[in-house]
Amino acid sequence: MKRRDFIKNTTITALSASVITPLAAMASENVTHFESDDLSPSASLKDEFNVHFMAIGDWGRNGEYDQTEVARQMGLWGAANPNDFVISVGDNFYPLGVISENDPLFHYSFENIYTAHSLQCNWYPVLGNHDWGADPLAQVRYSKVSRRWNMPSLYYKKEFSLGKTDKVLMLMIDTDPMLHDDKKQQVEEQMVWINEQLKNAGADVKWKMIIGHHPYYTVGPRIKNYDTLTIREKLAGIFEKYKIDVYLSGHDHSLQHLKPEGYTHQFISGAGSELTPVTSGIPYSKFEASEHGFMYFAINSNKLHVKAINMAGKVLYETTLTK
Ligand SMILES: [Fe+2]
Repeated sequence: MKRRDFIKNTTITALSASVITPLAAMASENVTHFESDDLSPSASLKDEFNVHFMAIGDWGRNGEYDQTEVARQMGLWGAANPNDFVISVGDNFYPLGVISENDPLFHYSFENIYTAHSLQCNWYPVLGNHDWGADPLAQVRYSKVSRRWNMPSLYYKKEFSLGKTDKVLMLMIDTDPMLHDDKKQQVEEQMVWINEQLKNAGADVKWKMIIGHHPYYTVGPRIKNYDTLTIREKLAGIFEKYKIDVYLSGHDHSLQHLKPEGYTHQFISGAGSELTPVTSGIPYSKFEASEHGFMYFAINSNKLHVKAINMAGKVLYETTLTK
């Protein structure tokens, strides 16, 4: 017998004795879990909702301006509450985006900040104005570097199941080009795409959400500036025509829930690091806070529940939209 065959046969014999026999003995018992199941306590958290996510915006500041403290609270929240993914509403990397998928800012402002186990879920980002400063497509390419960073293109669609029959549709859009006249062609292409997705939405789509960086209403510093008025002019008609339930954005650095005239609710979750002030007493504002924090959404067929949470973990505001 050659040496190689001897080793092979000896190994098989040893395996038979030490592994195969115990496995055979176990075969008669019920299998309770596969190895790939997540057995951590947070994985078994359940409530009446089918889809849960945190939304964070305007965060990428190397941990400064309380970015690290907000990230820590998101980690604690995700460990104590059911959570499926995180949406980033843009301005992911200040001051000028990233230059490539190897840019160190991915480590300084993302990987080494959002470190909690509960935040190792899928992240679905959109881009903000600051992200357009260097190479916007580098954030798309980073999806091939980081397992949790999921950005297939500058704008894209996600659908999530709400039980057996219903779905929530989310369009992740790229609002910054809408503010620049020299990008008319690419904006036109995106608008065609947005209209197509909404026109072709299935009858099983119970909730429609659009996620972009710039708000179409705000009670922050940009209440009447060019950005807000331009985005309103571009998107308000679409929101009304297709009965968009929620428009979720950032850009102003605060937490807000606004209900302007029309069908759509505007939520702003732009308090991931630096803060800017808000104005109280605006009739269409249901809630506004210039506090560091994030939002938490929980959705089922009949309810869309939203919480605004500050970096101390205090629920500042909560509301439920119903159908
Ligand atoms: Fe912004």
